[in-house]
Amino acid sequence: MSPVDHLAPVFAQHPIEVINAEGVWLHTRDGRRILDLYGGHAVAALGYRHAGWTRALAQQAEACNFQSNAVPMDVRVRAATRLARFAGGAFDSVFFVNSGAEANENALRMAFKMIKRPKIVAVEGAFHGRTAAAGAITWGADKKWYEFPRAPFDIGWIPRRDVNAIAVQVDTNTAAVIVEPVQGVGGAFDMGREFLAALRARCDEVGALLIFDEVQIGIGRSGQPFAANFYALTPDMITTAKALGNGFPCGALLMTPRVTAAIKLEGLGTTFGGGPMSCAVIEAVIDAIESEGLLENVRRVSKYLRDTCTVGPVTGHQGAGFLHGMITAKPAKEIQKMLLERNILAGTSADPHVLRLLPPYTLKETHVDLLRKALCDL
Ligand SMILES: Cc1ncc(COP(=O)(O)O)c(C=O)c1O
Repeated sequence: MSPVDHLAPVFAQHPIEVINAEGVWLHTRDGRRILDLYGGHAVAALGYRHAGWTRALAQQAEACNFQSNAVPMDVRVRAATRLARFAGGAFDSVFFVNSGAEANENALRMAFKMIKRPKIVAVEGAFHGRTAAAGAITWGADKKWYEFPRAPFDIGWIPRRDVNAIAVQVDTNTAAVIVEPVQGVGGAFDMGREFLAALRARCDEVGALLIFDEVQIGIGRSGQPFAANFYALTPDMITTAKALGNGFPCGALLMTPRVTAAIKLEGLGTTFGGGPMSCAVIEAVIDAIESEGLLENVRRVSKYLRDTCTVGPVTGHQGAGFLHGMITAKPAKEIQKMLLERNILAGTSADPHVLRLLPPYTLKETHVDLLRKALCDL
């Protein structure tokens, strides 16, 4: 593969070119209108051309486009306060970064700083990002793309939902357990409350920290602010990104008071993280989710999806909220291709029989009806 347009040939390309978008619809150069059930890898939570989000970005660009974290800005304080409150009160500090991998990298750094042990335990099927540390705890990365000569720490793996395997792996060598409460890339796979509660209990027993990677499921996608709220569990840290900025790159690490107390001046750092533009959109995203009743919409429409879309090649459903996995009799890649021919964009996952839907939170029942009709045709 050699680049024809100077872009590194890294991603397989969909056969469409998007020139603009509105609501849940993408408009292509050749005049097609495509229903977006994928949201750019779970990013476009508010959909496209959201008035409040666009206004917040434009106003902050006018007011002051950038100052570093060393210069106090009210918008940064407002975004941190808003995010901590949105999470429900268990987290007292927020460290803003630029991406999901970076949020995880910093969560791991805090864990090693606090708990002086060499091992991180992760869950099979996990995706935590492509940096050296996050990639080391991403399932299968060492065989596909990791490339670094060795992992930066010891790693233990637990099979998904295997409560009995927890005590074997999570031991007194373990600094932290990191888990996606609902796996995204792994196939919209919900870990279930029993498994997550058992992880919490075992971490407490051996003195390890628990990190929820909510880069994909967080910021309302489960129908609750975070999956931690969805499962009524409090991890020591939550990492998040994607929907947090609705397309403006940003991420965040939320910390409980015990972790906050371990932060040292200059122990964490970033140039762009916490920049005023990202903080303005973070505030706008949470504002829209709360003022437009989007959590309720996610809960209602995701139930409608489950109730009405076991048709055509779809044999079942998994995941939570708008991290929705459709289990397919035929390979999901084939279904994805056929849906795109019918003007519906869906995603796939590491599970060849799971079609992954990550739609904007504004998706309505009428849009689901269009999907059902298309699935019935396949
Ligand atoms: C659960 C999870 N964690 C981390 C990441 C990495 O995020 P980013 O691509 O913003 O670095 C992803 C990306 O897909 C993800 O799904």
